[in-house]
Amino acid sequence: MERIIIFDTTLRDGEQSPGMSMNLEEKLLVAEALDAMGVDVIEAGFAMASNGDFESVHAIAKLIKNSVVCSLARAKTADIERAAEALKPAKQSRIHTFISTSDIHLKYQFRLTHDEVLTIIKDTVGLARNYTDNVEWSAMDATRSDRDYLCKAVETAIKAGATTVNIPDTVGYATPDDYGLLIKYLKDKVPNIDKAVISTHCQNDLGLATANSLAAIRNGARQIECTINGIGERAGNTALEEVVMAIKTRHDIYPFECNIDTTHLTRISRLVQSITGASVQVNKAIVGANAFAHESGIHQDGMLKFAGTYEIMTPESVGLSKSNLVLGKHSGRHAFRERVQALGFDIGDNAFEEAFHKFKTLADKKKDIYDEDIIALLDGDTRAEAPVQLESLHITCGTVGPQTAMITLRINGEVRRATVEGNGPIDATFNAIMALVPHEAILKLYQVSAITQGTDAQAEVNVRLETPDGRFVNGTGASIDTVVASALAYINALCKLQTLQSRENPLPAAQAGGRK
Ligand code: KIV
Repeated sequence: MERIIIFDTTLRDGEQSPGMSMNLEEKLLVAEALDAMGVDVIEAGFAMASNGDFESVHAIAKLIKNSVVCSLARAKTADIERAAEALKPAKQSRIHTFISTSDIHLKYQFRLTHDEVLTIIKDTVGLARNYTDNVEWSAMDATRSDRDYLCKAVETAIKAGATTVNIPDTVGYATPDDYGLLIKYLKDKVPNIDKAVISTHCQNDLGLATANSLAAIRNGARQIECTINGIGERAGNTALEEVVMAIKTRHDIYPFECNIDTTHLTRISRLVQSITGASVQVNKAIVGANAFAHESGIHQDGMLKFAGTYEIMTPESVGLSKSNLVLGKHSGRHAFRERVQALGFDIGDNAFEEAFHKFKTLADKKKDIYDEDIIALLDGDTRAEAPVQLESLHITCGTVGPQTAMITLRINGEVRRATVEGNGPIDATFNAIMALVPHEAILKLYQVSAITQGTDAQAEVNVRLETPDGRFVNGTGASIDTVVASALAYINALCKLQTLQSRENPLPAAQAGGRK
């Protein structure tokens, strides 16, 4: 059976979307999870874009054991050299270089002729080949390019040594029929096409990214570029979970295999949601909260008789456990360990004991503990070393004002307290945190969602802060108390902000910031 190469660009195209920047530690977490899931190629970043990007590509190259690690590079000598330098520690590396081929880009943006572009392709792909024998070349805006010129450009790239040729639908303009025909045209017309893998990279501006990618593999493409949850520029990119489950579920139409362990999909989706603060909609295919929920009576009746009546894939196949065995305060270590393992977590004995203790604390407050609660508990379990920690929070709120937050934080080991009023309990809490941890970042997003059902469900809060120089950090927090979850999320974002700033320069002198 032919293999489809899964090329994940969550850390490059995904991270390029507004407000979704990730710090180094977060990128390493995502890269490790992608590697464990079986992604073939991880596009770790764009090494030339900034020192931070270079550092992350370099650190991911060092860390990753199985996947090929890739850096993007414009068709410029300095970019390609920087990508090669960042990728040096990788066990397997790929340089991905690109240039536009559409007349609209060449005329208005780059002011280059067709012949000039062909020369640049020859030189830059050739240069990249000096560093690695795994070189991908992309024709930016391929779907709006003249077809015969695109064929010439692809032929030139392959002659110069490209082992993968990517045909991006950069502006999300293609439809499945015409994208499929374009791939077929290249396969039929480019004389040396059999020497390279044809790749797809589809933006989702018309909501067709997944359909376009699937049409491409039916017509000869063998690599799909995609991102977790479909994040990416503008309306996003092809969602990895969608193309992978389509191939798995509709083998009759897509007779291919890929290396992805689909039982990791739910967990990695949640990880990316919690890091980026971008929650997927409840009806999102594969990973949305309702993707496996059956509400109508007729559907429920069918499901009870035989799940295949209304379910085309099983919840277990994407990493949701089907079992109705809900954990609670009487559950012991054995049941908890089994559930943790079933959810795909591989944690050592000490981490397990800590997690078990937190599980018991949560179970004392919340009757039923669902898989989502355990995932939130384990994914959020990395804050023990954080420079700012929440010690306690007491709120006065309700119809009789003023709403007041009395908060105690441990800041770099020192206990500090503040009592501050606000317009409601969240505002009071955030004001109190700001009084103790002054900063200049502005709150750009505050979002609350319930992790499970019921009035005792844990709230998950996402907070996004923007620095005065236009960078973003995301923080998350989960608790059965929405105000506590909000405080945890805000503190989490502030800790990331401190890490970001201390990497570049020490924190500015403490002064109250302007939160919007
Ligand atoms: O959308 C695009 O064209 C890209 C390429 C660099 C692959 O992101």
